[in-house]
Amino acid sequence: MTDAPDAYGDPVITPTPRRKPKPEITTIGGRPLKPSTLMMGHGYDPALSEGSLKAPIFLTSTFAFENSAAGKRHFEGITGKRPGGAEGLVYSRFNGPNQEILEDRLSIWDGAEDALSFSSGMTAITVMLLAYCSAGDVIVHSGPLYAATEGFVAKVLSKFGITYVDFPAGATREAMDDVLAKAKAQAAEHGGKVAMIYLESPANPTNALVDVEAMAAARDAAFGEDGPPIAIDNTFLGPLWQRPLDQGADIVVYSLTKYVGGHSDLVAGSIAGAKKWMDPVRALRNTMGGICDPNTAWMLLRSLETVELRMQRAGENAAKVCAFLRDHPKVEGLGYLGFISDPRQQDIYNRHCLGAGSTFSLFIKGGEAEAFRFLDNMTIAKLAVSLGGTETLASLPAAMTHLSVPDERKAQLGITDNLVRISIGIEDPDDLIADFEQALAKV
Ligand SMILES: Cc1ncc(COP(=O)(O)O)c(C=O)c1O
Repeated sequence: MTDAPDAYGDPVITPTPRRKPKPEITTIGGRPLKPSTLMMGHGYDPALSEGSLKAPIFLTSTFAFENSAAGKRHFEGITGKRPGGAEGLVYSRFNGPNQEILEDRLSIWDGAEDALSFSSGMTAITVMLLAYCSAGDVIVHSGPLYAATEGFVAKVLSKFGITYVDFPAGATREAMDDVLAKAKAQAAEHGGKVAMIYLESPANPTNALVDVEAMAAARDAAFGEDGPPIAIDNTFLGPLWQRPLDQGADIVVYSLTKYVGGHSDLVAGSIAGAKKWMDPVRALRNTMGGICDPNTAWMLLRSLETVELRMQRAGENAAKVCAFLRDHPKVEGLGYLGFISDPRQQDIYNRHCLGAGSTFSLFIKGGEAEAFRFLDNMTIAKLAVSLGGTETLASLPAAMTHLSVPDERKAQLGITDNLVRISIGIEDPDDLIADFEQALAKV
């Protein structure tokens, strides 16, 4: 800051003191504040940004050090020469103010110690897997996974001598014990270790749930204290309807592109968990890049302010639409977590889930022709892949996202030609029901 000139005509330089953010208030009278309250301000102090109520977008590639010693201290922290890591900001491939606020707020939803943001869900998943796996290692994963994740494990990591063992999403504890024993033997044979247990629940598009509690117990029984981390893709139900860290998972993974972003206008991803699980991934992200950009991080901060409202409304809408569809004569069945028929799946749901979500499978009576007629006659729902946005989306996996999946695998996964994938938005529920009714009438 430059003040008025002194007696000699030289400007008086009053350095602007670096201010620390105000201490966070996370409880009132001993009562912890809820995530929806904390989303309005957590991790940001207006006093550090000219009083701006909302965080500015920090468009900078680098950050100025206060002095040379501070610069050296920073690099000592980053390189591990000084224990405790680095504090503060140095270069935008590593982190930035918008991303740090975003990561603080994402941690809150899952009750995690730390979080990392990425430029897409797939960047989060691939950087995490690369950080944990070395040649000879084995990944244990539930199946099916999001196709790009499954492809990365099977086709890319395999190039580096990393193999996998998979098991069906609905597997029992006994089946999990068996798959872990098989993975251990495979790792021993390849001179590696079981590096990660990777889950996706509910599975897409079957909505089959994985018993995370059973997997955590199976992992502990098989490996004792030094077992591999359990990561879980919580994109379909998180952060509102499922909190997998509470069931024994170590790392929760998101495509923020879906419910968290929530407006179908950005692509981003994240992981969250204990700092010890985040640190190796942060180090690789520092090297590779792939951090979420400041503009997208800012948009996600805005999205997080309404994520609870949006997800609640979408969940209520889906319940109403599914109640209408359930007994409709043109509907063969529904893959909706609100109407589970299998007692074991219902048991997992009761222990793990806080809501049924708004993404489900609708089986139209007939085949592809009937499904196409239904889709082409929808007027409110847009015909597009993706999910978790404010608008209702519909697609036909067998003919679109899963077209390249071999027929045998499709049959195994229950991806039939009449399976329509629906993601319900926050429109008026009666308007949505009217739209489904008129489109089904034309099938
Ligand atoms: C369950 C799941 N995980 C991960 C991803 C990948 O996320 P992104 O498209 O943000 O890379 C998707 C995308 O559809 C998904 O549905």
